[in-house]
Amino acid sequence: MDDKFYVGYATVHKLVHTLAERLLDSGYDPDVIVAIGSGGFIPARIVKTYINRPIFAVGISYYGIGNIHSDHPQKIQWIDEAQRHLKNKKVLLIDEVDDTRATLSYCVRELLNYEPQEIAVLVLHNKLKPKDDDFPPDIKRYFAGMDIPDVWIKYPWDAENIDEHEACEKAMLERLACASIKKENR
Ligand code: G4P
Ligand code: MG
Repeated sequence: MDDKFYVGYATVHKLVHTLAERLLDSGYDPDVIVAIGSGGFIPARIVKTYINRPIFAVGISYYGIGNIHSDHPQKIQWIDEAQRHLKNKKVLLIDEVDDTRATLSYCVRELLNYEPQEIAVLVLHNKLKPKDDDFPPDIKRYFAGMDIPDVWIKYPWDAENIDEHEACEKAMLERLACASIKKENR
């Protein structure tokens, strides 16, 4: 057992369900979903189960053409006819994790160039840590399924052995439940 934070498929699905409800309860009814690949793809597809809107996939990376590392994120895949699809639209931007916020903020700024009506940001996990970048003030709606300390999250789609991954998640949840009972009894 390591100190990574294991998240299984069922947990991802339930987090997304709750997030979709929170988003709709806030009165936000998006026109389009933008998924940041690759981590945002599966969460975005699950959101579509609850909020059925077209999904546009974008790719943003520190590695550009020729696999050369850059000091800032850059677009490697973007939306065709972005102006037509985004202008005056309510956008829901989805990624799996808000870590340094560098990729997310960059993507938000790029999308704002197309003058959407609003952009809401939705992530499964937000790491509680100093961020390298911040969102422009235009971003009023931000939804994180869970705030967590700065630990490495093991998502199910990265698992080479999904049975082992599920067992690790179960053991981790039991350990966390035990720790919280001990804390309550102190
Ligand atoms: P941010 O704006 O979303 O915070 O992204 P940041 O640039 O800080 O993240 C760099 C890459 O590191 C992203 O992947 C992000 O998904 C990944 N990452 C950060 N923390 C974790 C973590 O705890 N667990 C996992 N599994 N990944 C993490 P990427 O370069 O976009 O690649 P992809 O995996 O999404 O394809
Ligand atoms: Mg990612």
